[in-house]
Amino acid sequence: MIKLIQITDPHLVEPGETMHGIDPLARLEACLEHVTANHADAALVVLSGDLTDDGSPAAYAALRERLSVLGLPWRLMVGNHDKRDVLFAAFPEAAGERGFAHAALDTREGRVILLDTLEPHRVSGRLCEARLAWLERELEAARGRPVFLFMHHPPFRVHLPALDRVRLMDAGPFLEVLRRHGSVRHIFAGHVHRPISGTWHGIGFSTLFGTGHQSEAIFHENRFATSFEAPAYGVIFIDDASVVVHAVGFLPPA
Ligand SMILES: [Fe+2]
Repeated sequence: MIKLIQITDPHLVEPGETMHGIDPLARLEACLEHVTANHADAALVVLSGDLTDDGSPAAYAALRERLSVLGLPWRLMVGNHDKRDVLFAAFPEAAGERGFAHAALDTREGRVILLDTLEPHRVSGRLCEARLAWLERELEAARGRPVFLFMHHPPFRVHLPALDRVRLMDAGPFLEVLRRHGSVRHIFAGHVHRPISGTWHGIGFSTLFGTGHQSEAIFHENRFATSFEAPAYGVIFIDDASVVVHAVGFLPPA
């Protein structure tokens, strides 16, 4: 069994500034404190994109400072709000093959693959041919062992129109790659700022609230609205029989 932690969409801004009346850095700090206090046995902490709200160097520097004292292994992913070049200036180790922020790691329970779905200047996500070719190679290298994918943009619809129109575009070729290998057991996504779970073409998936602001569940209109539901992070247990995802709140009751 392994335990993974997923923290998503912190949307950090310049330290000291707020967004929607929320201090995103204070929220991330509270989240990291909760993780430190409760999950010293976690194998890995994945921050699944929208690390910053506007790609500001000061926001990435603040993130680096907070993570440097975490005491657990961590990995960063990019979301549509991130800027790869600014991220790589602060975190050179986040730069993967061909300049994308993707990575593959082997664990006791299988291979964890972190995808880079950022398409600059677009809210929706993309996996270009170069990234799909990389994924294909990393799935081959798993040699049939279970694979767990983290990706900022969900490839599946969640039936919230404003979020569905900004999901991963062209999910067809991505699905073809997954089908050729058949080893992906679960997709952990970010981006939607809501906890949603289900299956997509037989593959389990889950999403989470962000650590800062949330998105309102608007089912009947093509309209986006920010919401202020309590944030959470994911505590994931994986063994050969199951993938279990807890959404854990970390703020004290108001
Ligand atoms: Fe986000």
